[in-house]
Amino acid sequence: MHGMTTENERIEVAEEIYENPADYDLEVAAHAVHDLPFWTTLVRRERPRRVLEVGCGTGRLTLPLAQLGATEGFTTVGLEPALPMLQQATARAADAPAATRAALHFVQGDIRDCAFDEPFEIILLPYGAAHHLATIEDQLTAWRNAHRLLAPGGLLVVDLSAPNLAQLAAASGRTTPRAEDLVAEGDEGQQLRRTVAVSYDAANQEALMDYRYVVRAPNGEERRYASPFAMHVYYPRELALLFASTGFVLERLLGSYAGEPFSDESPQLIAIGRTE
Ligand SMILES: C[S@@+](CC[C@H](N)C(=O)[O-])C[C@H]1O[C@@H](n2cnc3c(N)ncnc32)[C@H](O)[C@@H]1O
Repeated sequence: MHGMTTENERIEVAEEIYENPADYDLEVAAHAVHDLPFWTTLVRRERPRRVLEVGCGTGRLTLPLAQLGATEGFTTVGLEPALPMLQQATARAADAPAATRAALHFVQGDIRDCAFDEPFEIILLPYGAAHHLATIEDQLTAWRNAHRLLAPGGLLVVDLSAPNLAQLAAASGRTTPRAEDLVAEGDEGQQLRRTVAVSYDAANQEALMDYRYVVRAPNGEERRYASPFAMHVYYPRELALLFASTGFVLERLLGSYAGEPFSDESPQLIAIGRTE
């Protein structure tokens, strides 16, 4: 693969949903997240040569970024530890125009220890990828490695869910009753239903999202599986410290994909730092 070294023993994504990329795509489509204009505007403004998307999953954002790169002259690298997700992304890219494919590389790896031959001007961690970094050591290692991978003056952008204090309080020291939180219908008649029970470990800032999935195929066959997600909950000043202690200047904390500054009401917590 293109300019990379990986240590496969470090690749340890446990979430079952990432073993089922078609289910992931159904789930993410049901969320109808409108983050692409945010990323394309941000990337275009920086006039990069190379962009790294960390946790690129099935290529939802990677492909449109590569399409933009084909016209604006930059290459997009999608980094992803979960092989089934990467295979789905690669299959999706096979249908893209040749110019888009030429501006795109997928690499299996982990932001904590990947290495590349050439630097990036922008590293993105979209759609909550950094919630998977469970410990302070994981986070510092990831931020430091991102710094190593960036050119001087390069940008690291981390998109997270803002802490929802009411929800976390309701799940603090107890497990919330299991409830259905998502139903998704596919074009071919498949259906995905997701339930969740949440418990919040406030001392470790970890929300255990105990997701369970029931996926019904068009022929009526059902698959059921659990895919618990131990989600690190970031607070704004913790992010400021993470950036400051790993060689970045934190330029902005945004609260939504519309680009408003972060506030008490913000749904997102998007941190933008630049290497010193
Ligand atoms: C919520 S998904 C986002 C996928 C895609 N960017 C999207 O927007 O649809 C988070 C992704 O981050 C990946 N991930 C988790 N830990 C990672 C790590 N340490 N390094 C790189 N990617 C990671 C997961 O495998 C998963 O595909």
